[in-house]
Amino acid sequence: MRPALLSLFLIVVSSRSLGALLQSADDAAAHLASTQYDYIVVGAGAAGGVLANRLTEDGTTKVLLIEAGSSDYNNTNIQIPWLAPVLTHSQFDWNYTTVPQEGMSNRSIAYARGKVLGGSTSINYMIYTRASKDDWDRLASTTGDDGWSWSSILPYAKKLEDFQNSPNVQNATSKFVAGDHGTDGPVGAGLPQVSLAIDQLGLDAQQELSSEFKYNQDVNSGDMIGFSWTPFAIQDGARSNSARDYIQPAFPRSNLDVLVNTQVVKVLQTGVDGGSPIVTGVQITSGPNEKRYNLTATKEVILSAGAIGTPHILLLSGIGPADQLKALGIESMVDLPDVGQNMQDHPLLTTNFQVSSNDTLDNLTLNTTLQAEQLALWTNNRTGDFTLGACNQWAWQRLADDDPIFKNSNVTDPSAGPTSPHFQLIFSDLYIAFGGGAFPNGHFLTLISNLYTPMARGSLTLNTTDPFAYPLINPGLLNDAAGFDIYAMRQALKAGRGFLAADAWKGWIVAEYGASANATSDADIDAYIRKNALVVNHVSGTVAMGKRGDAGRGAGALNPDFSVKGVKGLRVVDASAFPYIPASHTMVPTYILAERASDLIKNSTSSSSSGSGNGAFTQLAAPTLVLVSLALASLISLSL
Ligand SMILES: Cc1cc2nc3c(=O)[nH]c(=O)nc-3n(C[C@H](O)[C@H](O)[C@H](O)COP(=O)(O)OP(=O)(O)OC[C@H]3O[C@@H](n4cnc5c(N)ncnc54)[C@H](O)[C@@H]3O)c2cc1C
Ligand SMILES: *[C@@H]1O[C@H](CO)[C@@H](O)[C@H](O)[C@H]1NC(C)=O
Ligand SMILES: *[C@@H]1O[C@H](CO)[C@@H](O)[C@H](O)[C@H]1NC(C)=O
Ligand SMILES: *[C@@H]1O[C@H](CO)[C@@H](O)[C@H](O)[C@H]1NC(C)=O
Ligand SMILES: *[C@@H]1O[C@H](CO)[C@@H](O)[C@H](O)[C@H]1NC(C)=O
Ligand SMILES: *[C@@H]1O[C@H](CO)[C@@H](O)[C@H](O)[C@H]1NC(C)=O
Ligand SMILES: *[C@@H]1O[C@H](CO)[C@@H](O)[C@H](O)[C@H]1NC(C)=O
Ligand SMILES: *[C@@H]1O[C@H](CO)[C@@H](O)[C@H](O)[C@H]1NC(C)=O
Ligand SMILES: *[C@@H]1O[C@H](CO)[C@@H](O)[C@H](O)[C@H]1NC(C)=O
Ligand SMILES: *[C@@H]1O[C@H](CO)[C@@H](O)[C@H](O)[C@H]1NC(C)=O
Ligand SMILES: *[C@@H]1O[C@H](CO)[C@@H](O)[C@H](O)[C@H]1NC(C)=O
Ligand SMILES: *[C@@H]1O[C@H](CO)[C@@H](O)[C@H](O)[C@H]1NC(C)=O
Ligand SMILES: *[C@@H]1O[C@H](CO)[C@@H](O)[C@H](O)[C@H]1NC(C)=O
Repeated sequence: MRPALLSLFLIVVSSRSLGALLQSADDAAAHLASTQYDYIVVGAGAAGGVLANRLTEDGTTKVLLIEAGSSDYNNTNIQIPWLAPVLTHSQFDWNYTTVPQEGMSNRSIAYARGKVLGGSTSINYMIYTRASKDDWDRLASTTGDDGWSWSSILPYAKKLEDFQNSPNVQNATSKFVAGDHGTDGPVGAGLPQVSLAIDQLGLDAQQELSSEFKYNQDVNSGDMIGFSWTPFAIQDGARSNSARDYIQPAFPRSNLDVLVNTQVVKVLQTGVDGGSPIVTGVQITSGPNEKRYNLTATKEVILSAGAIGTPHILLLSGIGPADQLKALGIESMVDLPDVGQNMQDHPLLTTNFQVSSNDTLDNLTLNTTLQAEQLALWTNNRTGDFTLGACNQWAWQRLADDDPIFKNSNVTDPSAGPTSPHFQLIFSDLYIAFGGGAFPNGHFLTLISNLYTPMARGSLTLNTTDPFAYPLINPGLLNDAAGFDIYAMRQALKAGRGFLAADAWKGWIVAEYGASANATSDADIDAYIRKNALVVNHVSGTVAMGKRGDAGRGAGALNPDFSVKGVKGLRVVDASAFPYIPASHTMVPTYILAERASDLIKNSTSSSSSGSGNGAFTQLAAPTLVLVSLALASLISLSL
């Protein structure tokens, strides 16, 4: 007995100087048993990284960050922007698939999610957009919390950002509005460093068609509409992600521990307060056949496992639609009908155009000598084509206010307002076919036309109670009853074709290439889209915020401060929380959510206000941590 206590003591002492990077639940059991955490944050993606960093700024707040994936965020494939496509279906991808999508010819679609420190920010395409003023103002009105308005979140959007005007960017001053950006924050961002031959053609086409495609100097200034240059979460030629920008800088803090290769299988009730369950426990394990451990936070558990992982954990824990859970034999802790509902994502379509020039990025696809040259440039100097993302330019467009679709009595414009796009047109300087298939050789421009205001809503439900079996994931792509989504996708493709038909492209674009070229009638276009569309991987909305106090189906599962309705001590901070999917790429909006969440959490625990109800019980909460079975005893004896 005595030696065991001594070893525990030594572990505690040695952990004071530096936070630990713990590689598995078994390896960490003794350390975890000897530490009291104020907060347990589940999932180290966009949101979890922000929370781990911001909550430990105060050296007295002890945080445990738990991540299912590995700590290998320094992997070169993650760092090199041009290699982003190889990360899908890699060891860093959960490799989910959707259930057959009725709106997409019953195809099951591969559904990527990051599984490594940084989460999806470690495998995504690094596009950097904040969403529009109208999207944020709608979040404020939907939740009844003016703290979500554009003017309230703008300080967070600037605080998180380190937007650098690289000397390699030509004509930079006409490509963004410096005053609208932050330069002191953790997340590196900037414009593409390499000029492409099509850049000038794109500008010329915009000029020619300026009544339809206005020039927008900065897509992140609040109004997203028009043709603009693409900002990326890329700095000094390398990927910015939440691991490098938020988690790594917090490693040296003695009050942050990071536990990787460990999955949270459920959250646990640890008490009752005023009739509501207190949920400050988590059950963790490092594999389906590994030992499970229970841990308790002294203040709160915060789920940041993403819009798939978070509702999955909640449903497994009995927090969700009671009837659904009962059918699976899961005891209901709280009947919260919105958990897993309201899933949304952005449908995506690529179409390829053959071009007459040899001067395109297609050369990188097959020429291994060129690849080696560019890799050397990147490795030695962080320059060259490997610093690029998917495009240098794009357009974000709206359907006209008098578009015939709005005469359909079943359609209410799903857009948040005039600064918010219905669809996006990406112009890529090479052949891209996300669905796979051999590169046909030659030189291409790829149009990627994507719907950003889906009316469709899907869901996430449990298939089995095994936490290692994947849930049933149904984003409901192109499957709204009114037919708005397929209509708007068709209009997006037509708008993209229209842009590429400008005189500016004559002599460059030869013709649309492949089967899409034959899709010219509305019926053929729709059939082509349903057979070929994929998804942008922006899954959102599955544990949505609503107004405080509203209850029942459609009222939202979260209060506007992220506290889970009907329980205490538990919040959800990640892309699950958006009641409407932002008409934007979703990483930066998620960073913004988590930045404000960090302040809300700091404030709520420093006061004893009734706010989320979390302040009052913290003193009452059951003894802290721990554990745990016989495993601890054996670990301790091993360490003697
Ligand atoms: C291929 C791809 C391309 C994308 N491109 C862009 C882009 O260019 N620009 C953009 O803005 N957005 C893009 N996105 C979307 C963006 O990355 C996400 O919206 C954002 O990362 C969501 O943040 P999150 O915190 O909600 O979840 P995530 O970043 O996904 O983080 C969730 C974390 O929780 C972990 N986790 C899950 N379950 C558990 C569990 N049970 N226990 C422990 N840990 C768990 C996961 O492993 C992961 O690390 C892309 C996404 C993908 C997949
Ligand atoms: C990643 O690389 C950085 C910089 O070299 C280093 O400080 C950090 O410790 C590395 N992280 C891991 C988990 O290896
Ligand atoms: C995803 O699939 C790829 C390819 O099959 C595989 O190599 C990888 O390990 C899988 N990812 C995970 C997390 O299992
Ligand atoms: C830079 O601006 C000049 C003058 O407006 C223009 O002639 C040139 O084409 C631009 N170059 C790029 C790469 O945008
Ligand atoms: C492209 O390259 C091929 C082969 O090198 C050459 O025959 C052709 O003339 C080139 N075309 C143009 C437009 O430069
Ligand atoms: C790309 O390769 C072709 C030959 O396939 C060559 O003619 C052309 O010059 C190359 N372009 C660039 C920009 O390297
Ligand atoms: C491949 O790239 C190298 C290096 O840029 C170049 O010298 C060579 O001509 C290219 N080969 C082809 C077939 O284009
Ligand atoms: C990197 O830059 C240095 C000078 O800045 C140059 O000498 C060197 O050749 C460059 N390396 C590569 C691989 O281009
Ligand atoms: C609206 O939906 C109803 C019910 O599905 C349907 O009967 C009607 O035809 C639709 N109206 C239009 C204009 O599509
Ligand atoms: C659901 O579970 C059943 C039974 O375990 C399994 O056969 C099936 O493949 C699962 N479905 C999905 C989509 O995972
Ligand atoms: C397009 O349609 C024509 C005429 O029906 C047919 O010959 C051609 O093969 C089609 N092209 C593709 C790529 O499907
Ligand atoms: C936190 O409290 C401070 C001081 O009362 C206040 O200025 C700030 O707006 C609060 N932050 C949030 C996100 O509510
Ligand atoms: C962990 O929590 C679960 C659920 O409350 C409980 O059934 C189990 O006995 C606990 N395990 C240990 C080792 O305390």
